[in-house]
Amino acid sequence: MKSKIIIIAALLLLLVLPVSGCRKSAEAPENDGEIKNEDELTIGVSFDSFLIERWQRDRDVFVDQCKSLGAKVNVQNANGDTQTQISQIEYLISKQVDAIVIVGIDSDALSGVCGKAHAAGIPVIAYDRMIHDSNVDLYISFDNRQVGTLMGEGMVRSGLKNRKVLMCAGPNEDPNVAQLGEGFKEVMAKHSVTIVDEVHALGWKPEYAADYISENIGILDQVDGIMCGNDGIATAVYRVLAENRRAGGIRLVGQDADLEACQRIVQGTQVMTVFKPVEKLARAAAEYAVRLAKGEKLTEISDRMSDGSYDVPYVMLEPIAVYKENMDETVIDAGYHLREDVYLYATK
Ligand code: GAL
Repeated sequence: MKSKIIIIAALLLLLVLPVSGCRKSAEAPENDGEIKNEDELTIGVSFDSFLIERWQRDRDVFVDQCKSLGAKVNVQNANGDTQTQISQIEYLISKQVDAIVIVGIDSDALSGVCGKAHAAGIPVIAYDRMIHDSNVDLYISFDNRQVGTLMGEGMVRSGLKNRKVLMCAGPNEDPNVAQLGEGFKEVMAKHSVTIVDEVHALGWKPEYAADYISENIGILDQVDGIMCGNDGIATAVYRVLAENRRAGGIRLVGQDADLEACQRIVQGTQVMTVFKPVEKLARAAAEYAVRLAKGEKLTEISDRMSDGSYDVPYVMLEPIAVYKENMDETVIDAGYHLREDVYLYATK
């Protein structure tokens, strides 16, 4: 009798083991739940475009840092098109990358695809630009309101005879633009400076600003200065000013510390730019992405920012105002541009 019980128990055990193994293998992630070692990790990164100088730098530093941490990187470039960006993020999900980092083109268009990433167990980082209503695992950027404040202070500091300026800002789809605008407008109001108009360059395309000024050339007789949403816009605006022999007379401010802008600053035809040490941003983002990819929790991040629906973990870096007098101690000492390149046309 006893031997019969043992045989039945053994048979039952044989029946249960493969089923439970089957349940586990059916539900288990690709590697059966063990934490992947670093050299198996792949980080997907989705960029808006590389037309703008700074994003090339962000990409290079981000990829280098991920590789130094042992992770592979799959870089996608949406060339400024939101539908392309969504498709590329879906592609990264289909490749089962271990984390996705996004420079969003349209902050209101990505909650669906971020939801798909989360459903696939893939953490998402909003890089430099918040993504609305998506409960991303981390938003990391500079203090964009402070960028606007620094631009405003640069404008006022340059001396505004008529106390009138024009805003040629970035696109409304980029949430940084509104934050920057708040900071800039607060300084203008504080110093009783009138903003005669505010135009927005769709997709950060500088030609929108240049075309606006060319079509309203009389505005150059009204304003003391033009706030440019980034240095790419400042370059396009500068060319219109130069064509109309106004270069240097109308103050320009921008951001990103593009090489041409830094050259104008030391030549005296642009007041300032806001330097955002993208190496710091890209390096930090790569480290966070690898940690999230490994399944770690970023418990040390206590700051939060609302994405419109959720309070998401937020890491904020400080921007730096760059003028002629501190160009060497900032952009050049940071190794962002070579001194001989910045001073190429300057009369020293
Ligand atoms: C914004 C960013 C700026 C600038 C711009 C494109 O989102 O805040 O620093 O890079 O994109 O030039």
